[in-house]
Amino acid sequence: MTKEEAILQIRQLSKEIEEHNFRYYQQSAPIISDYEFDVLLNKLIALEKDWPAFIQSDSPTMRVGGTITKEFKTVTHKYPMMSLGNTYSEEELNEFDERIRKILPGEQLEYACELKFDGVAIGITYKNGQLVQAVTRGDGVQGDDVTTNVKTIRTIPLQLKMPDANDLFESARAFPDAFEVRGEIIMPRAVFERINEDRIDIGEAPFANPRNCASGTLKMQDSSEVSKRRLDCFLYGYYGTPLFTNHFEAMNGISNWNFKVSEHRKLCASIEEVMSYIHYWDEKREELPFDIDGIVVKVNSYRQQEELGFTAKSPRWAISYKYKAASVATQLEEVTYQVGRTGAITPVANLTPVLLAGTTVKRASLHNADQIAKLDLHVNDTVFVEKGGEIIPKITGVDILKRKENSSPVLYITHCPECNSILQRKEGEAHHYCLNEEECGPQIKGKIEHFTGRKAMNLEGLGSETIDLFVEKGIIKNIADIYSIDKDSILQLDRFGEKSAQNIMDGIEKSKEVPFEKVLFAIGIRYVGDTVARKLARHFKSIDAIRNATIEQLTDAPEVGSVIARSVIDFFSKPSNQQLIDRLINVELQFELKADALPITLGDQLTGKTVVVTGTFERHSRDELKQLIEQHGGKNGSSVSKKTNYLLAGSDSGPSKTDKARELGVQVISESDFESIISIKN
Ligand code: IVH
Repeated sequence: MTKEEAILQIRQLSKEIEEHNFRYYQQSAPIISDYEFDVLLNKLIALEKDWPAFIQSDSPTMRVGGTITKEFKTVTHKYPMMSLGNTYSEEELNEFDERIRKILPGEQLEYACELKFDGVAIGITYKNGQLVQAVTRGDGVQGDDVTTNVKTIRTIPLQLKMPDANDLFESARAFPDAFEVRGEIIMPRAVFERINEDRIDIGEAPFANPRNCASGTLKMQDSSEVSKRRLDCFLYGYYGTPLFTNHFEAMNGISNWNFKVSEHRKLCASIEEVMSYIHYWDEKREELPFDIDGIVVKVNSYRQQEELGFTAKSPRWAISYKYKAASVATQLEEVTYQVGRTGAITPVANLTPVLLAGTTVKRASLHNADQIAKLDLHVNDTVFVEKGGEIIPKITGVDILKRKENSSPVLYITHCPECNSILQRKEGEAHHYCLNEEECGPQIKGKIEHFTGRKAMNLEGLGSETIDLFVEKGIIKNIADIYSIDKDSILQLDRFGEKSAQNIMDGIEKSKEVPFEKVLFAIGIRYVGDTVARKLARHFKSIDAIRNATIEQLTDAPEVGSVIARSVIDFFSKPSNQQLIDRLINVELQFELKADALPITLGDQLTGKTVVVTGTFERHSRDELKQLIEQHGGKNGSSVSKKTNYLLAGSDSGPSKTDKARELGVQVISESDFESIISIKN
């Protein structure tokens, strides 16, 4: 392929993919399947790999990320990012209306009402229709440049389309050469819950709410991880050449340029109408797939906004009405304690059941000992329970007036509720821990459950009930015991017949093929989730390299900070863990990275084709070529036969293979032939 052809292909593919992105994310009306979409995207990824000089800064491959940012650059905002004054009552809202009417006597007023998205504010600059920079609010004057991460958010256009002249209606305008849009990056609730489940599983503190999760995600170093987290963004501000006369028109305008603007905004002619919008969303907000914490009310006319101006901190023309978190009083019946896989103790408040925001609440999370102390919780206290952004309700306070005389404070347990060993709390840690890993029931079961889970060894036959039974019957006590299970001991249990026992045995055997990165996740090192396990596996390539690594070597790996590194060192410092790993190595689990364990499918150009590689090459090693073959759907053959489709021959390949190929009519190709096969789908 010539340089010109590559540029053209990259441009055409980028345009085609963005078009499909737009149909999928903005219009919810895709015209191709996800698979077809991936094929197009992978084709572009491959082309960009071969011609990195022609990668466009608005390439749709930015959506899948891949750039590592060690430190985010500080950028000064062109227009300061102000905050809004808050109100919590109808009265204060009326005062806001009165203040405005005093400054603009006799004028007609319209209020633009919007949802107040509970996320992270962002300012995004476009030049000549291209996204050039995205900056967080920071202190309002300066923020962090998070452009690469923001580019992974599918609903944010990378390149704007000129509004189609035929579609032009009243408020449609062409976008100016340079402008900024502002909005809120949010984490949909469903994504937040999934991420937290994963975090709890590896012993990491869950995010308190979707906002914190969105903010943490935006600051991740590896944009390909950000891409997986499915952030979203609603825009609510336009800053640039004056094109519009009011806010509502501006929002329609930017929505015509393909920005995602909430459909739930409304123009209100009076403060009473504003109030009913507020009431409506107070009832309905639970039904939204994301969190809002209030309503923003803005004077619609830009001229009036200008006349009203700003105070030192916020505009006089806008205000936010904050919803009070739903709260209710009930009685604390008992505090119980759960033991997790890592031995962490979580106190739980058991409450007299009470209705709160449509659901019956029986339990509330108490997090740790400090929180119990901070609340000064007493047995049988009347407590206030709140459901804010958090999924699990929390106790926000105690009604002291209702406290019974002589009631005693809740005392944190000193011994494990399961195995009775003394609990420990390390300095700087929020939780108490039971250290009796090998004898404490929930820890034994939890570790085995983690090991057999879908994201780990995927041992379907060993679900939580079976594990409970096997542990209780003494068949297994740790993850390595799984590989010594014999069929007869399963058959002795009432629940299992020949077939189900055989299924378990087959599953165990099959798990020996599970790739290294999943095995590394499965062994359950604290803080090593599936992502970190993948990074560690790719970086170190074998368990031996990991278990011999120093703190410095560990922190050199991507995504690995000192907490994770310390946890890996701690894990391998325990002889019992070393023994477990040795036993697992002996039964031949995968403890090395396989050459073909590379991340993504790059294309399907070689599906159903067998390629034999021989000789040496200019631009790739033989192993790299073999990986590329598999990444493009092909198979590697070791010798030339009738089934071979291509012989990929390098410079000093011996005559035996090439002669054989010619004899059998197998096509002999060079490195550049190969490159064009995998770059362009014929
Ligand atoms: S307008 C001059 N509109 O609320 C301020 N803000 O306390 C312009 N927010 O930092 C902000 N939804 O992060 C505006 N529909 C909305 C909003 C919104 C959420 C956030 C934003 C801002 C904070 C103000």
